[in-house]
Amino acid sequence: MARTCVGIVGAGPAGLVLAHLLADHGVECVVLEQKSRAYVEKRVRAGLLEHRTVALLDERGLAERLRAEGQVHRGVELRFAGERHRIPYTELYGGREMVVYAQQELVADLIGLWLARGGELAFEAEDVSLHGIDGERPELRWRAAGRDERLACEFVAGCDGYHGVSRGAVPDGVLRVHELALPFAWVGVLAAVAPSTEEIIYAHHADGFAGHMLRSAAVSRFYLQTTPDDPIERWPDGRIWEELARRLATRDGWKLREGPVLEKNVTDMRSFVVEPMQFGRLFLAGDAAHIVPPTGAKGLNLAVADARVLADALAARVRRNDPAPLEAYSATCLRRVWRVQEFSSWMTWLIHRLPAELPDRELRERLQRAQLEYLFASRAAMASFAENYVGIEGF
Ligand code: FAD
Ligand code: PHB
Repeated sequence: MARTCVGIVGAGPAGLVLAHLLADHGVECVVLEQKSRAYVEKRVRAGLLEHRTVALLDERGLAERLRAEGQVHRGVELRFAGERHRIPYTELYGGREMVVYAQQELVADLIGLWLARGGELAFEAEDVSLHGIDGERPELRWRAAGRDERLACEFVAGCDGYHGVSRGAVPDGVLRVHELALPFAWVGVLAAVAPSTEEIIYAHHADGFAGHMLRSAAVSRFYLQTTPDDPIERWPDGRIWEELARRLATRDGWKLREGPVLEKNVTDMRSFVVEPMQFGRLFLAGDAAHIVPPTGAKGLNLAVADARVLADALAARVRRNDPAPLEAYSATCLRRVWRVQEFSSWMTWLIHRLPAELPDRELRERLQRAQLEYLFASRAAMASFAENYVGIEGF
């Protein structure tokens, strides 16, 4: 049977960054991915990277194309009651910048660089299952091209996202699961149109949130608030452009450019955390362990942060026989995860239209407006937003 030190399930941002960092430490690993390479390199998701995510990728030689093609950002625009309010986060938080770079491009870079350094990665690995994670000799089993495959590992990293199999390999009752389905969802739209803005826009509107996000000079990303489980068929392109134009409108006559819709879907929102992020020799990282509502643009950044902590901790255990960082892995990550959950939840409730059926809706709307007005009026409030949005140090 094939052997490795760390078996990594999932070639998303968490699994791929972990693989690179382990290799930097001289720790052997193998990555298993359920989908094809073409599929994961095309899957449209996140687009905004924190300062420290970019710094880590840069430091490890993984950011060459990101640096060449990504766009550096220093501020964000919030729209409310037809007025624009800019939060200059770089100026407010010690010069830290953010970068717009599509997740699928980052995934493609990480795969290309991994294969170029001779890394092992099995695509289209079907029916992956985890065995013996509570003992000293865990094993991964899967099917590839009709054949049964097995891999003996010392450790398993579950980096297979929210719908993956790793978390389910933990016996019932071991993990404490915190889960809250939010009464909001986003219609996500990718369109072949030049952006109508230089900076990302989050708009609060009586008809619901609208976001104008960025990808490139020729492609833009948009989000529209809807209710969970709303079928995408209810969002013909004409309705999308109409709702975007209305919700993003400003008193100073800002204009939205329209173009062909390339892709659209509806994403439900949840807050989800499992504690601890470990069972025996299985370590969960990224969306496999936690989901934040996308409002704060944090999920990918959290996944990379987990991968960094896990790589260092596994290397300490394997290379120096020091078990302490690995024992602390879950607690180290969860401190940041809960900070980000709190910020993402706060920002979600700040910027969305509140559901009609919410008790005390009118009072809550007044409180929401009071929070927005405070945020736009107070430099201290803006600085607090800035440090959380950019990625607060010390967490
Ligand atoms: P994933 O990216 O989900 O990767 C898991 C991998 O495991 C996948 O490749 C999957 O195919 C594979 N897999 C699954 N099951 C199995 C199995 N059984 N066997 C083998 N492989 C398996 N985050 C940000 O930081 N910034 C943003 O701007 C942002 N915007 C977002 C916008 C939207 C609309 C959405 C939905 C999310 C957004 N996110 C954002 C969140 C971000 O996309 C995720 O948090 C991120 O993808 C998590 O990375 P991951 O590696 O943990 O999981
Ligand atoms: C994105 O670029 O897709 C994006 C940006 C900011 C968010 C969420 C998503 O808050």
